[in-house]
Amino acid sequence: MKNSVLSRLSLEEKVSILTGEDIWRTYGASGKLKQLFLTDGPSGLRMVDLKENKPFKATALPTCHVLANTWNEKLAYEYASVIADECIVHGGDILLGPGINIKRSPLCGRNFEYFSEDPYLTGMLGKAYVRGLQDKGVGACIKHYCANNSEYDRCYQSSEVDERTLREIYLRPFEMCLEEKPWTVMCSYNPINGIYASENRKLLHDVLRKELGFDGLIMSDWGAVHNPLLAVKATLDLCMPYHKDYKEVLIKAVQEGRLTEEEINERVVKVLELIEKSEQNSSKRKITFTDRERHVKAVETAKEGAVLLKNEGGVLPFTNRADGSGKYSKIFFYGVNIKSPVTSGGGSGRVETAFTQKPLYELISASTGIATTFAEESRWEPCWRSVYKQAYEADVSVIALGNDASIEGEGFNRCTMRLSKEQEDIILNISSHSEKTVVILYAGSAVDMSAWIDYVDAVVFAGFAGEGANEALCELLCGRANFSGKLSETFPRSLQDTFKGGKTYDGETDLYDDGIFVGYRYYDREKKDVMFPFGYGLSYSTFEYGNIRLVKNGECDYDILYDITNTSDTEGKEISQVYVKDVSSMVRRPEKELKAFSKDNILPHQTKTVQVKLDFSSFACYNVSLDRWYVENGDFEVLVGGSSRNLPLKLKLRVELPQEEQFSDG
Ligand code: BGC
Repeated sequence: MKNSVLSRLSLEEKVSILTGEDIWRTYGASGKLKQLFLTDGPSGLRMVDLKENKPFKATALPTCHVLANTWNEKLAYEYASVIADECIVHGGDILLGPGINIKRSPLCGRNFEYFSEDPYLTGMLGKAYVRGLQDKGVGACIKHYCANNSEYDRCYQSSEVDERTLREIYLRPFEMCLEEKPWTVMCSYNPINGIYASENRKLLHDVLRKELGFDGLIMSDWGAVHNPLLAVKATLDLCMPYHKDYKEVLIKAVQEGRLTEEEINERVVKVLELIEKSEQNSSKRKITFTDRERHVKAVETAKEGAVLLKNEGGVLPFTNRADGSGKYSKIFFYGVNIKSPVTSGGGSGRVETAFTQKPLYELISASTGIATTFAEESRWEPCWRSVYKQAYEADVSVIALGNDASIEGEGFNRCTMRLSKEQEDIILNISSHSEKTVVILYAGSAVDMSAWIDYVDAVVFAGFAGEGANEALCELLCGRANFSGKLSETFPRSLQDTFKGGKTYDGETDLYDDGIFVGYRYYDREKKDVMFPFGYGLSYSTFEYGNIRLVKNGECDYDILYDITNTSDTEGKEISQVYVKDVSSMVRRPEKELKAFSKDNILPHQTKTVQVKLDFSSFACYNVSLDRWYVENGDFEVLVGGSSRNLPLKLKLRVELPQEEQFSDG
């Protein structure tokens, strides 16, 4: 089909196809071509109703960092499937997500849209997300390719990153997601090593297409093309949105012999192939979730993604004293997020929901029968004496606060990891008047809690938990559901403890001199104590690990088995994590790296055997002398447990690949 279409198109039509018809749609060639509607993503449908010129209302799912805190691939699949349904309802063909950039610093303004500091966790959840969309005939767009890990001056600041770091940390999630054959990839705004992503032939053509085998369409981020000729030469297929100079510049380049029509054709074919793919998949476009079920999925994600960080003296769950064994007869609630919690950070990832949440205090009193009081947060008339009195008279105070879209969003970074001074004071003052204090935090990335954590009894990290936050929190806080989320990023003690430590560089470039030591890889290397480690999260259940063993299927191919026992009276889900440590190597390697995980529901006092796989990629690092992934023979350790800093199980193994494949003497 595409060849016959191609032969019928004039040069002018062909170059028109290489940019959008408008902000969201591909060029329709006056009805000759099916127009594709490209739409955001990634935590719900943010699609503009072109007739009304305003966004359609859609299910505001928790943002992707909360999804990552679930460590649940099945849920990630269903989450994307919910978004696919809404694409189908409104005619979205390509969903601009998932965003699979690595959280290099807690300050990045878009961290809430991304999954994790770890490439493996990002890759696994990203894969499930891509499958969830594409199984319903909606194309995925993995973005932003690549090394876009900061929002500060994102369009111009060059990410200066060495080859090994690029491969092992920043490209790895893309490489993993490519296994699911996403229909499209979006290049980022930033230059990489001095060349804009949209013009970077090495990254687009040599690496993405040739080496990693991507055969879909590469589009630009919105406005990321500076030089149309260089973009086409780099094999960028589609410049979004409509670029007014595209046609003129490219036609002139062909006329002057700086670009061949064949080079244009190659790019046009990719757009035609995408249209064809979308048409061929149209029979898959069947809605499977009702409106209500989509909302329920938002609640479920918020529930599985909430992380219980502290629960001293078992202050949670809330149980009614009137029930005999219960603890509380009155709970005081404070904070703007009690009534209508912030659903997301700001920018293109923000979804307009039609759903109005019920206040948390209303849900909790209906669920438990415990009396509740609430004080509205007001900048002008705080009436603190009344607030403190209510806190004093209750058995426990719940404070829900954190960041919003003015603090975390697209196009800017946070300037601090701390809450505002006002918010920190509120926590300290209310807790000093309260018998017990529970803090619920809304934010898209790590928060420095050092000023107040010692003065409160419980902390729940809700994240930006979407339109179902209060329903999810009600069930968790009342013990009708168990906490099962774990952190997909480290919470360091303070910004000073992070790699950059709050320092900025010259502003022109962003030097990635932390190399492969990102997130827990950095804190491990520095032997730094952290507030909450990567992979950490409490539950109402307690778990014990034991009996690790392996089955060797091949030299780099193992089944790892271990037992987890729920030692409590409460049913719960445990996320177990499997890290691999290279004991000795010719190149410097992280202390350990996540290579497998599993989330399992375990009944009270039940023991479950978990089985995960390790393969070549679990032992390999990227060798820049060989220009490929390479496993060096020698001793490895497999470490298993409930967080990156709590790994009770250890197993040693030795990799002995044939000597002719080896370059080391060990
Ligand atoms: C963002 C992309 C988004 C696009 C379209 C850009 O500013 O970086 O992630 O998909 O806008 O809204």
